[in-house]
Amino acid sequence: MSFEEQVLAQQSLPKHVAIIMDGNGRWAQQQGKPRVWGHKNGVESVRESVRFCHKLGIQSLTLFAFSSENWRRPEEEVSTLMELFIFVLSNEVKKLHKNNVKLKVVGDKTQFSSKLQQKIKDAEALTATNTGLTLNIAANYGGQWDIVQAAQQAAQQVADGVMSVQDINESSFSQFMNLSDQPQLDLLIRTGGDYRISNFLLWQAAYAELYFTEVLWPDFNEDVFSEAVATFVSRERRFGCTGGQIKALMQQES
Ligand code: IPE
Ligand code: IPE
Ligand code: MG
Repeated sequence: MSFEEQVLAQQSLPKHVAIIMDGNGRWAQQQGKPRVWGHKNGVESVRESVRFCHKLGIQSLTLFAFSSENWRRPEEEVSTLMELFIFVLSNEVKKLHKNNVKLKVVGDKTQFSSKLQQKIKDAEALTATNTGLTLNIAANYGGQWDIVQAAQQAAQQVADGVMSVQDINESSFSQFMNLSDQPQLDLLIRTGGDYRISNFLLWQAAYAELYFTEVLWPDFNEDVFSEAVATFVSRERRFGCTGGQIKALMQQES
């Protein structure tokens, strides 16, 4: 998208929203339950978010489900999360397919069990030609990993003589990043009250609007999502320009 198009697209709804779904453990602990209870209850918030994006006509929703650092958690929590992932994939995919959702899992899948890898392949294949919402599940994803795998692809192309070192620039490099086939990230939401990116979409978040809420993920719902979208729409995105330049450009267009 050209710079002018980026500017003129503001004050409209975001095309691509990403969410760091945080706070499951604390939500469960507040109720005197084990942390995994929070993960299980977070699934309903995922469903509600998908429904909301569908309703608003948002093109892409990217959900951070498991970071490359989350392997550091107690083994029992990691294995429950993996089982939950398999369970949810098995149970939700048909419904997603019926709703024309295209499902993609982004992240380093090689570390998953072969059963999970197969479920992911099947789900992606089933929904591959759907034309509604694209739902990206970031699992074993790290923003630094994403940049490194892109660098490897670029290096391979140079080694193969397909491109030269001078051909590597922001635009050509970005094609090797995950999600480059989708609209650029407009809005990044984090629930759970922490103010950090936790190695999520580092490259893609360059000009995303950030929205943080104290709400814990299992309590996330359409109202909280609407509030985030309303805040997004009210913001002025300047992309390095002055406010005056942006206003002039918008007036020129209207
Ligand atoms: C986010 O909730 C879900 C995952 C990281 C899988 P947490 O499990 O991080 O919940 P808190 O932050 O400990 O409350
Ligand atoms: C980020 O949450 C990862 C996911 C939501 C999947 P974490 O709970 O892992 O983040 P930190 O450890 O607090 O930074
Ligand atoms: Mg957390």
